[in-house]
Amino acid sequence: MEKYIIKGGNPLVGEVEIGGAKNAALAILAAATMTDETVYIDNMPDASDTNAMLQAIESIGAYVERTGRHSVKINASQIRSYTIENDYIKKIRAGYYLLGALLGKYKSAGVALPGGCHIGLRPIDQHIKGFTALGAKVSIQGIIYAEAEQLVGNHIYLDVVSVGATINIMMAACMAEGKTIIENAAKEPHVVDIANFLNSMGANIKGAGTDVIRIKGVEKLHGTEYTIIPDQIEAGTFMLAAAATMGDVTVKNVIPKHLESISAKLVEMGCQIHESDDEVRVVAAKRLQNTHVKTLPYPGYPTDMQPQITVALGLASGISIVTESIFESRFKYVDELTRMGANIKVEGSTAIIEGVERYTGATVSAPDLRAGAALVIAALTAEGYSTIEDIKYIQRGYEDFEVKLRELGAQIELVDDDRDIQKFKLKNA
Ligand code: EPZ
Repeated sequence: MEKYIIKGGNPLVGEVEIGGAKNAALAILAAATMTDETVYIDNMPDASDTNAMLQAIESIGAYVERTGRHSVKINASQIRSYTIENDYIKKIRAGYYLLGALLGKYKSAGVALPGGCHIGLRPIDQHIKGFTALGAKVSIQGIIYAEAEQLVGNHIYLDVVSVGATINIMMAACMAEGKTIIENAAKEPHVVDIANFLNSMGANIKGAGTDVIRIKGVEKLHGTEYTIIPDQIEAGTFMLAAAATMGDVTVKNVIPKHLESISAKLVEMGCQIHESDDEVRVVAAKRLQNTHVKTLPYPGYPTDMQPQITVALGLASGISIVTESIFESRFKYVDELTRMGANIKVEGSTAIIEGVERYTGATVSAPDLRAGAALVIAALTAEGYSTIEDIKYIQRGYEDFEVKLRELGAQIELVDDDRDIQKFKLKNA
């Protein structure tokens, strides 16, 4: 089992190049099956979730060719099955995007119930509500099936702001007859990216990025060449790692506007933020100050950045309060952090954090993707050695995480067994 061994204490310094957005890529790969023509996608992250999605679409007959580490060519004209229940799909939550994509194009889709990170209940009632409103019949027998003679546009009001439901309904509605309006839509950058991707294939989607999205159905979609937006959460993770380690890091190839809620919190915590066209530099020259954070749909502070800021606030002066309002079980990692010396009390959806001067190294296990990254950040600041287990969660969404951290001066190694840990300790004693 692969693990990270980390010796903490080095401030992160330097520049880091941010990759394509994992959560945009997953939906874009599903949407690529909606045309018989060839689609070329660039800035595709090489993470285990995106690779699982590529294998999933290949398994139903799509031609998939990696033309470079971050570019892929897809032709879905030979798709032979609209039901996917293989192991690849069961691993990832975003498998549900194939429901919207295949239903939209073929009027029939079946996908094994979504897996993904265990961060709460994660219902899909809003996806189903949307498909049903477009005229599909949805049934669940281990697999979720959605079928329709014909999809017809409708006016859909989402009861909760859901990224997944917004994107899924948008995909299904693209080729429906007439007009669809999605109200109370999610506004996340990747919702806009998927709308732009679909529009580049000939869809007619307006309003993505606002809470009302209007879609006029078209008969067919065509091939395209598209570059995925930079990953807001990967960028944010390095920004918080810079802050927590008292470092000075420039995250490059980003859209600073997407990072504003994170930058604003870092300023409140006493960091300096320097923005230019496509980079953001974070300088943490003095001990972080406490602040309060509540996770919200975009443009609020992202839930996917909650564990990382909690780890940083665990080292700040004073008492901070972090409220998680999107997923109910997203504080599981706090037990692990406590073993590293954090002083955090979780009551329901709120964490009350009394900052400590320093964490101490420990063996901890990543409970999910973002919490795993946050524990790595904690270990980078900690006194002594830490081992992070279950890093398969981290590898779901971060490409070359340890390599990028090492380039910033971190002492971190991906190891397979205890002998490698001993070697690392000898080398970094
Ligand atoms: C996406 O999940 C992301 N995953 C998550 O990122 C991210 O945390 C989340 O959006 C919020 O930004 C992918 O893009 C693959 P939601 P998703 O539907 O679409 C409730 C990561 O670490 N809800 O916006 O599943 C739900 O319970 C992952 O990269 C319903 O009630 O999230 C939650 O409280 C983790 N009914 C809220 O809405 C539904 O039908 C937001 O969930 C759907 C959602």
